[in-house]
Amino acid sequence: MSNVDDTPVSAPSKPAALSAVATSAKPAPKVADASPRLAGAEAARPAAGKKGEKPLPAKQRRRFIWTSIGAFLAANFLMFLRFFFPRVLFEPTTVFNIGYPSDFPLGVDERFKQLARVWVVREADRIFVIFARCTHLGCTPDWKASENKFKCPCHGSGYTPEGINFEGPAPRPMDRAHVELNAQGQVIVDTSKLYSWPKGGTDHFNDPGAFIPV
Ligand code: FES
Repeated sequence: MSNVDDTPVSAPSKPAALSAVATSAKPAPKVADASPRLAGAEAARPAAGKKGEKPLPAKQRRRFIWTSIGAFLAANFLMFLRFFFPRVLFEPTTVFNIGYPSDFPLGVDERFKQLARVWVVREADRIFVIFARCTHLGCTPDWKASENKFKCPCHGSGYTPEGINFEGPAPRPMDRAHVELNAQGQVIVDTSKLYSWPKGGTDHFNDPGAFIPV
């Protein structure tokens, strides 16, 4: 017979006071309060964007969208209007005033090449205007002052300072524009009227209007 008591020993129970303290230290979750607050926080949270990016407020987003739509419609409207104003080719005037003969020193003057595609040439006894168009295929030659000649960049035709071809495939001299003096004694050039020297033909460079005596 054992003198050990076989009665199972139950875990020592907490004293009632300690148990009450522990229970009161753990506040019960306020489930009923949390839900509305959470919903409010979700609603107030802006739309998720990239990290570090500040998303636009709804008002700004709406304004951006409407601005984009407006710009798109305006661009389309302008393109529509464009059909009523077809592109027009503005040709430079063919008649223009280049000033007094005394404004030009002896030699080739390039001042009007960009504007009117001509060179003004002053010689001892005359002034004339060469139309800057190669007689091979129509390119615009360059004046090479250091070589004292015109040179076509396209196929290499060369012309003397008077515009007479001497090398390359150009078949004849460059044309000269009509010139005359106005009432003030200034030179008026008309490139719609040209004087030429056809290959094997007669030279028109001494016709009245092809030059101005000085
Ligand atoms: S166009 Fe000038 S050489 Fe051919």
